[in-house]
Amino acid sequence: MQNESVITNYTLEEDNIIDNTIRPESIEEYIGQEDVKENISIFVCAAKMRNEPLDHVLLYGPPGLGKTTLAFIIAHELGTKIKTASGPSIEKSGDLAAILSSLEPGDVLFVDEIHRMPRYIEEILYPAMEDYSLDIIVGSEGNSRNIKIDLPPFTLVGATTRAGDLSAPLRDRFGIVSKLQFYTEEELKDIIKRTARVLEVEIDDDAALELAKRSRGTPRIANRLFKRVRDFALVKGNGRVDKKITEEALNRLKVDKMGLDNTDHELLLAIINKFNGGPVGVEALSSSIGEEVTTIEDVCEPYLLQTGLLKRTARGRVVTDKAYDILGIERNNK
Ligand SMILES: Nc1ncnc2c1ncn2[C@@H]1O[C@H](COP(=O)(O)OP(=O)(O)OP(=O)(O)O)[C@@H](O)[C@H]1O
Ligand SMILES: [Mg+2]
Repeated sequence: MQNESVITNYTLEEDNIIDNTIRPESIEEYIGQEDVKENISIFVCAAKMRNEPLDHVLLYGPPGLGKTTLAFIIAHELGTKIKTASGPSIEKSGDLAAILSSLEPGDVLFVDEIHRMPRYIEEILYPAMEDYSLDIIVGSEGNSRNIKIDLPPFTLVGATTRAGDLSAPLRDRFGIVSKLQFYTEEELKDIIKRTARVLEVEIDDDAALELAKRSRGTPRIANRLFKRVRDFALVKGNGRVDKKITEEALNRLKVDKMGLDNTDHELLLAIINKFNGGPVGVEALSSSIGEEVTTIEDVCEPYLLQTGLLKRTARGRVVTDKAYDILGIERNNK
């Protein structure tokens, strides 16, 4: 898990337990991402008809859009088992060999944060992906030898927030590459209503829409905010989530009308106040607000760019007129 500073309050223990109960299991329950879903359904269906493993799949996009969820759904739809690993945890060739040789024919191997896998591990992975074989060196220096292990046919599903950090040879070995998009308000509303159903909480339509509007296009945030609003409804109301309690709770949580949180505000305000609206390089911005470059690039910026509050130019980040409007700040010199 990266970007701790921004997502600490997204990963409370209780949230993790609930996460597993609200995570959709089948492709029908997975809301939105229509293109991705349709393509994957067809490829899964074809693989089953041919009785072959599904081609390797790379899922990329900002955090919380449903990559891990989709990886599990792919295995569910294939009717196979799934083994999971994360890029940085595969340190030695032996680690990878152990994981790969534990697979059964047709299984899915899910590698999260695949861009953080060491390069020399990638190189062992290439033949495994291509010919289902593993070439590894065993023994100590001076007494080492190459061994080749045949693997069962399997499907690698890789997930990453930074497709650009993947080496070209690795990227090229994925037959299916899908980019997840931010969700629309209507889709997020459906996700929130589904979560409410699963958790047996009543929610009004306009309350679900208000939550959706403030969820930064991201299901994980929608679910997290819903859970907090549910707490307010329980303690301050009668348990039912209505629009009034939703607005009250979200204002208290300092989530603004567009779903921007403290870090977003800090980032935009820093560019405006300290760099006169930009352009500013990401490194300077990072030291100015005390957030890691990767957090800025992977967590904050995608949504700010998508909503047109921020622009990336060759000379750096620039805050747009829309951001000035939303923050209620006059531009000094245009
Ligand atoms: N399409 C969807 N429909 C319904 N719920 C969803 C959908 N996508 C994601 N969710 C919910 O959002 C939560 C976050 O999704 P998930 O963990 O799959 O995101 P992720 O892209 O893997 O994030 P990260 O990059 O941080 O690993 C899940 O617990 C799931 O309940
Ligand atoms: Mg994930």
